[in-house]
Amino acid sequence: MAILPIITVPDPVLRKVAAPIERVDDALRRLMNDMLLTMYDAPGIGLAAPQVGISRRLIVMDPSRDEDPKEPLIMVNPRIIVRGDELRLHEEGCLSIPDVTAEVERPARTKVSFLDREGKPAETELEGIWSTIVQHEIDHLNGVLFIDYLSRLKRDMIVKKLTKTRRADQAL
Ligand code: NI
Repeated sequence: MAILPIITVPDPVLRKVAAPIERVDDALRRLMNDMLLTMYDAPGIGLAAPQVGISRRLIVMDPSRDEDPKEPLIMVNPRIIVRGDELRLHEEGCLSIPDVTAEVERPARTKVSFLDREGKPAETELEGIWSTIVQHEIDHLNGVLFIDYLSRLKRDMIVKKLTKTRRADQAL
């Protein structure tokens, strides 16, 4: 297993629509394991494949990261099939947008269909923090970032600041 490098804004991969996964095989399960390790190491509570530079529809999540044994959710080709009416406000952050958090409102309950680790079709109902995370991660598969829900002015300021930081990091 390997910890993968996490890409950050404004990397263009984060803005691409990720391609569906056609086969769940050992190579994909290795990527699942690497993504989980990367997420726990960061530390983060969710990670989408585009964040490690792989534009494919795969996400991993675990909001209870201190618990043992760990019970992460891994979803291939996830799709939200039901969004509840009730909304939930959460102060979101993103491993691809370092040092930025903002409140985002999303449905408090969702029903998601996906393929599991073995490639079997599954459905699950999520609520609370799980519902927030699954929507944030599926957004990543569609090239959408949580800062897109903020005002344009605020978003532009964040991207500009991160672009400058990145240039400074690369300068010798
Ligand atoms: Ni994110």
